Amino acid sequence: MSSRPEHVESIELHDTDGIGSNPSANPHIETLIAKRISRRQVLSGSLALAAGGFLGGSLMPLETSAQSGSRVRLGFKEVPASSDDTLVVPEGYTAQVLAPWGTPIFPGAPRFAEDASNSAADQEKQVGFNHDGMQFFPMPRLCSNRGLLVMNHEYTDANMIYSAEQGGRITPDAAGREKVAKALAAHGVTVVAVRHCGNGKWEIIKHDPHNRRITGNTPMAFSGPVRADHPLLKSTITPSPRGTLNNCSCGKTPWGTYLTGEENWNAYFGTDDYSWSATALEARYGVSYSGFGYYWHRAEARFDLSQNRNELNRFGWVVEIDPFKPKSTPVKRTALGRFKHEGATCMEHKGRVAVYMGDDENGEYLYRFVSAKPWKEHLANGESPLDHGTLYVARFHDEGTGEWLPLVHGVGPLTTANGWQDQADVLIRTRMAADAVGATRLHRPEWVAGDARTGDLYVTLSNGAGNNAAVNSGRASNPYGHIVRFHEDEHSDTAFNWEVFLLAGDPIYDPAVPMGQTVFGSPDGIMVDGSGIVWILTDVSNGSLNMPMRGFDNIGNNAMLAALPDTREVRRFLTGPRGCEITGVTMTPDQRTLFVNIQHPGESTTYWNEQYGPPSTANPSAVSSWPFGRRPRSATVVIRKKDGGKIGQ
Ligand code: FEO
Ligand code: CA
Ligand code: CA
Ligand code: CA
Repeated sequence: MSSRPEHVESIELHDTDGIGSNPSANPHIETLIAKRISRRQVLSGSLALAAGGFLGGSLMPLETSAQSGSRVRLGFKEVPASSDDTLVVPEGYTAQVLAPWGTPIFPGAPRFAEDASNSAADQEKQVGFNHDGMQFFPMPRLCSNRGLLVMNHEYTDANMIYSAEQGGRITPDAAGREKVAKALAAHGVTVVAVRHCGNGKWEIIKHDPHNRRITGNTPMAFSGPVRADHPLLKSTITPSPRGTLNNCSCGKTPWGTYLTGEENWNAYFGTDDYSWSATALEARYGVSYSGFGYYWHRAEARFDLSQNRNELNRFGWVVEIDPFKPKSTPVKRTALGRFKHEGATCMEHKGRVAVYMGDDENGEYLYRFVSAKPWKEHLANGESPLDHGTLYVARFHDEGTGEWLPLVHGVGPLTTANGWQDQADVLIRTRMAADAVGATRLHRPEWVAGDARTGDLYVTLSNGAGNNAAVNSGRASNPYGHIVRFHEDEHSDTAFNWEVFLLAGDPIYDPAVPMGQTVFGSPDGIMVDGSGIVWILTDVSNGSLNMPMRGFDNIGNNAMLAALPDTREVRRFLTGPRGCEITGVTMTPDQRTLFVNIQHPGESTTYWNEQYGPPSTANPSAVSSWPFGRRPRSATVVIRKKDGGKIGQ
């Protein structure tokens, strides 16, 4: 073992999702988009017209489906872009902070300590850190005044969760182990009962028996083709699987359970043993000596690659949680594949459940799982619809069509002769299987949203260099991202049509963006509400936020926007405080209460660090003091219309 230099105490989280691990030469969607734009250019003689026609959908097959279902109009006045350290909603709306990080959710649970001195044991009884994907489960069914909020906690920030006395560094001793334990307790999922108490205000019901924390230590079951006793999952250091990590976006099944995606799980693993080197499988998933700089391995052998490398293979799955059964063991549904799962959006097709999933890293793929039979039949047989079915990966064609390619052992190149042992092998190596079948590389596929009325689906492609900076959606680079809309072909089980729904960005810097379109960057979260409004949540990276040099000064802080599916009008609905991203979003069935998560306010941000210095355990509020003028805390915000009307209308 050799020593490595000490890392700096202030851990700056870069836009690590922008670093790709895909060495394949598979086609990239930007090449396909560029071909379509240049074809239009020939027809119209102008790039501007070409882009306009392209965006206007004049050649697109999806217009009918989008228009037929939508008659809704936006009924709020746009809020301006903001760089203030505050949360802004439109006139006539209220915003209430609910369930910030550290809120006790059980009777007698410890209060949040403003100096971050809560212990790991305290944190296990409090709302986790960095709120992300979220779903509202009405209780009883269709109730809009009471229910369970289930939300993810994506990662922790050492500058925020440890006290000034503790400092941020992980040391190989009891203090280091306590710090890792606190971080693990702040990860995972929170289930908390909430109710509308009148006057537009909501509250947590602390005594509700459904309240629960699932953390990086909670026992986990494995189901589907990859079982916990698979040779690549066995560990002597942690004999039975524990924990879910980097829970990003989510989904809700038709049978009323919650799905959570394990995204940047490679972040937590590392080693100081230089005799370790990554296997081809580990390299394909971005596993490295230092991960993303958490250094948990220095205190816990569980996260040391040279001592416990199979622990890696227990992550990268979609986890199913039944929020109505607080004693149930969460289940990793392995048939849905292993990658950096963003979310798991469920739609119904002919009674079957289809689950749409992005793999958020530069150059990665879009996946779909379809149950073998109608989901009700599976449940009647006492089996999970998520254990029986087919995983597919998307291939896009340049004429606006696409196909779902099966990732099934023995089909196409995934044969024993080619080194694929069985379906479990295909699933553990999902990314490599997708490389082999020729999937289309994308710019960081994040969330997928479905419009239940029309069947239209939207996937946010957050940003990314792609494979050729010269042809990124017809522009010189693609720092701003775009949203692709697709629709399953009713006459086929594997064909779909697609188009670019919106290009994000600022037309001052990027002429491909339509002049007059509301500026925004890096679309990430997306939801279609019951009326067809497309809600977009942004996650411009901390390195670009507010930076004039990078063309982000007019865009301001991260924001939430509403778009219409037919006219593609975009309006800014909400702006967040400094250093945050806007993430999880869900509504009550009556669409009169919107819950939205504000993640990582005050995180180390290049632009603000230059003015105020970076945040640290000694000065966590350097960038932001949202929401209470003190230590910044992720939180759910409850948004209501003062007149009690439907949100956005
Ligand atoms: Fe966790 Fe891809 O955002
Ligand atoms: Ca995201
Ligand atoms: Ca982010
Ligand atoms: Ca993101």
